[in-house]
Amino acid sequence: MVSIGDIVLPDFPLLLAPMEDVSDPPFRAVCKENGADLMYTEFISSEGLIRDAIKSRQKLDIFDYERPIGIQIFGGDEEAMALSARIVAATNPDLVDINFGCPVKKVVSKGAGAGVLKDIDLMVRLTSAVVRATDKPVTVKTRLGWDESSINIEEVAERLQDVGIKALSVHGRTRAQMYRGHADWTLIGKVKNNPRIKIPIFGNGDIDTPEKALEYKNRYGIDGIMIGRAAIGYPWIFNEIKHFLQTGTHAAAPTVQQRADAIRKHLHKAVDWKGEIVGILEMRRHYTNYLKGFPHIKEFRNQLVTVKSVAEIEEILGQIVTRYEGFVPERKIASFPEEQGCSC
Ligand SMILES: Cc1cc2nc3c(=O)[nH]c(=O)nc-3n(C[C@H](O)[C@H](O)[C@H](O)COP(=O)(O)O)c2cc1C
Repeated sequence: MVSIGDIVLPDFPLLLAPMEDVSDPPFRAVCKENGADLMYTEFISSEGLIRDAIKSRQKLDIFDYERPIGIQIFGGDEEAMALSARIVAATNPDLVDINFGCPVKKVVSKGAGAGVLKDIDLMVRLTSAVVRATDKPVTVKTRLGWDESSINIEEVAERLQDVGIKALSVHGRTRAQMYRGHADWTLIGKVKNNPRIKIPIFGNGDIDTPEKALEYKNRYGIDGIMIGRAAIGYPWIFNEIKHFLQTGTHAAAPTVQQRADAIRKHLHKAVDWKGEIVGILEMRRHYTNYLKGFPHIKEFRNQLVTVKSVAEIEEILGQIVTRYEGFVPERKIASFPEEQGCSC
């Protein structure tokens, strides 16, 4: 059992990483169904929330079936962070998460996201301001440091724990690395095994198979794993890892019928949330990911991103199921952030 404040999670929980333009309510619904133990919203700008920006406000939408769920905010100004924490808390998430890891220029240049990694005192002040502003448990997601020469995650973990965060997720890369190379979990393990650290430490970065999850669990002793890209178009990763950890054997890969069902659920949730026109449009970016590895799928995919009604999409999904019955595609990890237009 792992506790984040008053939130109780199962042993070795698997977390769905916050992902801009990906981890919205429809995507979270399919991840929840497939074993995600704790999920987060996409990151939300504190300034945007305060300005009442519609896009930011919409990201606050959470549903009871998603619980436990965290809302993630970012920003570089103490007052704005505290105020946005209060706005967020009013929507009643289970926790409030702070993003100190986003490496994109538009965020970093405003002294937010991973930009804060250059100034730990500021990071501590921002965190403390959020902790003081809300009764909800506050967690942080960050990277190892700004660059190779300023890796500071061990100090960061201690100081953020001291100002009251209830869990820390660490992506094993520096800001300078963006997404290059491999995530370095050695330091994540060091943070976890520091006797001063009492809060749960979740490791993040490059987990894409059950074998890797087991290996890193045993090697680094972390409290749980946060998964991002490997869940895109493949929400089954959560239950596959759980099955492997429990039994040492692989769960059966999803059938084409199960894939179509996941797409259908994702689509229906999108339509329920945003209405038919916008829901169908927003769903279009997901088909490639769900259908990776199917030979000659292009024609079906082109139809899926062209038709304008749920009934037509259902019809095409039916054809896909018939055409590929019994076929199990080789597992391929979905889009990298560069392709998605974000690299938080
Ligand atoms: C498309 C995309 C969007 C992301 N958006 C966010 C975000 O909003 N907040 C955040 O903390 N991290 C964000 N990230 C980073 C992920 O949460 C995660 O730390 C990173 O992808 C590494 O984990 P992975 O190797 O399992 O994908 C994003 C990543 C991707 C791929």
